[in-house]
Amino acid sequence: MMNMNGMPQPAFYIFKCQQSAPPGMPKPSCVSQNNPESQELFQHLGQELMKKGIIATTLPIQTGCLGRCQQGPVILVEPGHTMYVNLTKERIDRIIEEHIIGGNVVQEFVIDDSFWGEPISPASLV
Ligand code: FES
Repeated sequence: MMNMNGMPQPAFYIFKCQQSAPPGMPKPSCVSQNNPESQELFQHLGQELMKKGIIATTLPIQTGCLGRCQQGPVILVEPGHTMYVNLTKERIDRIIEEHIIGGNVVQEFVIDDSFWGEPISPASLV
C-alpha cells in the first residue's frame, strides 16, 4: 500500500564516478584535466535533474572509482546496474530524458558486455 504520509524513497540513484588522477598520471580517470567537460558533468547532472523537477526522486551521488576507468567518464544507474560510459553533457541529457523519465535504457551509451558481464552471486562463492 502506498504510504502518502511518509517520505518517498528515490526511484533512481545515479552514481557518478568523481575519481581524478593527479596530473601526469598515465592511468585514465573519470575526472581529468585533459577533458575539461569531465570536470563539469556532476554539476550538470544535478542541474538538469533540478530543471526537470525530478531531483527528489532521482538522487545523484558522487563516488570514487567504479572500476571501469578505461571507459570513463562513467555513471552507474540503480536500480538495474546500468553502466553508462564515455559521458558528455549531451549524453547525460539523453539518459535523463530516455532512461530516467522515459523508462528505456539508452543502449548506445551502455558499457560493452565484454566489460560488464553477468554478476557473480556471492552465495555461489561461499
Ligand atoms: S576512475 Fe572512474 S571508474 Fe575508475
